[in-house]
Amino acid sequence: MPRMAVRAAIFHTPRPGQLETLADALIEIDAAGVITAVGPATPERLARTVDVTIQLPAHHYLLPGFIDLHVHAPQWPQTGRALDVPLEEWLQVHTFPLEARYADTAFAREVYSDLVPSLLAQGTTTALYFATIHVEASIALAEICLALGQRALIGKVAMDAPDECPGFYRDACAEDAIRDTREVINRIRALTPDANPLVQPVITPRFLPSCSFELLKELGVLAAQTGARVQTHCSESPWEVAHGQARFGKSDVAALADFGLLREHTVLAHGNFVNDPDRRHIHHAGAAIAHCPLSNAYFAGRILPLREMLDEGLHLGLGSDLAGGHSPSILDAARMAITASRMREAGDGGPINAVEAFWLATAGAAEALGLPVGHFAPGMEFDALVIDTTGPERIAWPALDSPIQILEKIIRRAGRANIRKVWVRGREVTGA
Ligand code: GUN
Ligand code: FE
Repeated sequence: MPRMAVRAAIFHTPRPGQLETLADALIEIDAAGVITAVGPATPERLARTVDVTIQLPAHHYLLPGFIDLHVHAPQWPQTGRALDVPLEEWLQVHTFPLEARYADTAFAREVYSDLVPSLLAQGTTTALYFATIHVEASIALAEICLALGQRALIGKVAMDAPDECPGFYRDACAEDAIRDTREVINRIRALTPDANPLVQPVITPRFLPSCSFELLKELGVLAAQTGARVQTHCSESPWEVAHGQARFGKSDVAALADFGLLREHTVLAHGNFVNDPDRRHIHHAGAAIAHCPLSNAYFAGRILPLREMLDEGLHLGLGSDLAGGHSPSILDAARMAITASRMREAGDGGPINAVEAFWLATAGAAEALGLPVGHFAPGMEFDALVIDTTGPERIAWPALDSPIQILEKIIRRAGRANIRKVWVRGREVTGA
């Protein structure tokens, strides 16, 4: 017997650019939070017995939960400040001193207990997190996500290179970084021993400049041994690209591949400067790019060739990149992705539209991670949110707007105040 049924107008986009709408849908969800049926709310289906039926009011829409494919949990307290300096200065002067404070696990718990509910309230049902170098603070983040019900992939950051990492904030050596990464993987896996864990560990070399050869090599070995996903920053800025060329004589993507770090479901944050062979390499490997358009406006100096990448079928999603980006909202990332794509030079690949941005924020990122979420279908887990288009100011005029126009307006205009309920795996995690 389905435990719960939700009767609602739904929007989702299982394939890029293809919006599916149902004005009066019934989604049935079992006790494990898995969708068992999706379809029109026919009298026969409505007659089936369930524990709870939730019916959304008029002008409310059910969407798949948003996925943040790149977010630095420890940078939450500095969100919105110090964004006028170059990336290297921002890291050394502002970010590394803040991240170093997470040696204090009580401080980590204070910040993460504020961040996770904030992201849930923004509709972020899944987050791919960079934590810090610290084992205990990384575990604290995992525990808080589990307790509050957010789907999360969490990486203890690995960074040991003395040239790029200050003495007060780095792994003492490659061996220690590997030992601690292994410990975080094992402890997060022990927190959630089920077959399909809500919270999972991720191998997280910060970026190539911050890691020694030995560390990169051993992290690649660890990825193969443990099967944990990999995330890192890649080809974000001209400085990073030049650093990689000088050190490895090749692109970041090619170097990561040499170390065994370009794997299926590897998530490369940014990727603004990847070249054509890199793109083919990423595609072939089944890796993905987390597009972080707000952060790119501050730090990268180039707009991602998103149109071309979408057309090539690359795995793609959106990242807030807190605190390189100033907003915790994936809707803000979606609209910045649209506007940034529109500001590319004439003759470049062209813009993306709101439906494509919606796909990036949901199904695209879910595919990139290989998680059973992102759209509504039997067998997918019920991660969803409710958008109220009546307030705090009215967004939609259904008598005037077509369904696709309502979705466009949601993507371009909705904010935290319009998000009334959020579920992860069928559990309500915030709401009215
Ligand atoms: N490159 C290495 N570390 C970082 C970081 O924390 N943020 C961004 N945007 N780029 C990075
Ligand atoms: Fe980042």
